[in-house]
Amino acid sequence: MHELIAFVGGGSMAASLIGGLIAAGHPPARLRVAVRTPASAARLRERFGVESLTDNAQALAGADVAVLAVKPQQMAEALQGLRLAPGATAISVAAGVRVATLAQWLGTDAVVRAMPNTPALFRCGVSGLYADPQLPEASRRRAEQVLGSVGETCWVPREEQIDAVTALSGCGPAYYFLLTELLREAGAALGLDPAVAARLALGTFVGAAQMARDAGADVAVLRAQVTSKGGSTEAALAHLEAAGLGRIFREALGAADRRARLRGEELAQLAASPTNPPAP
Ligand SMILES: NC(=O)c1ccc[n+]([C@@H]2O[C@H](COP(=O)([O-])OP(=O)(O)OC[C@H]3O[C@@H](n4cnc5c(N)ncnc54)[C@H](OP(=O)(O)O)[C@@H]3O)[C@@H](O)[C@H]2O)c1
Repeated sequence: MHELIAFVGGGSMAASLIGGLIAAGHPPARLRVAVRTPASAARLRERFGVESLTDNAQALAGADVAVLAVKPQQMAEALQGLRLAPGATAISVAAGVRVATLAQWLGTDAVVRAMPNTPALFRCGVSGLYADPQLPEASRRRAEQVLGSVGETCWVPREEQIDAVTALSGCGPAYYFLLTELLREAGAALGLDPAVAARLALGTFVGAAQMARDAGADVAVLRAQVTSKGGSTEAALAHLEAAGLGRIFREALGAADRRARLRGEELAQLAASPTNPPAP
């Protein structure tokens, strides 16, 4: 018998997880989703054939897993007065909301924090996961099952590393999109038709990503294999290195990491504020 998984929030991240779970063989009858508006509830019911409601407590009743998938700033309100069923696990995909904050709001330590990324929509995401070392193995496996339905999962040993995950893979798709934009602009600047440059840029990155995954060699080896001595690739890579591309990426990820940490602190302060206590 499949576990009953209830979602609190049914937006784009929840929809990709629900779609991924169903594609992975989880029966829609063992999925439930609670949203704010009846219109969203109806859309989700129609799209996935799952039970959908506008009452969070009702959604969590008897559920083995609660996936918390509202916006970070909506979390306090969404969890107001909520309690998990006995033995259940909460998995939060909300950026910046800490395990201790969620544990305080839900009155349980059975909490996993996850940071997925948008390719999850196409079931090729990658997620970082964190849980307190005391969390039972069964709860960890539940989190791997849910996030694993839309891509790969990697555990990190310390919660603050979720900020680094945010900086790397959470924000990562945007870096890739930017590089694609820059490549096509540079190609057009060399005289290529912009539409042709766009196709070449996209096709190159998609092909290189597939090769990096499937070729069975480290990306540094693959790079060396396409860099002939005195050739065009070497000329371009030497220029990127001299311009400090490695340093620029380290600084960029550092900025994203700091931003994520600050957001976590703001939300933790909000949680601790006496004006914002969810009633038990
Ligand atoms: N999207 C991503 O790529 C991505 C990546 C990593 C992490 N995340 C995390 O995933 C979470 C969800 O993001 P999203 O992009 O899916 O957001 P979204 O599309 O805005 O969806 C938010 C959902 O929450 C529902 N909701 C709002 N308040 C609620 C309440 N009080 N009770 C129950 N449901 C409520 C909304 O219902 P209505 O539709 O009825 O308004 C909507 O279904 C965020 O915390 C984000 O940090 C997202």
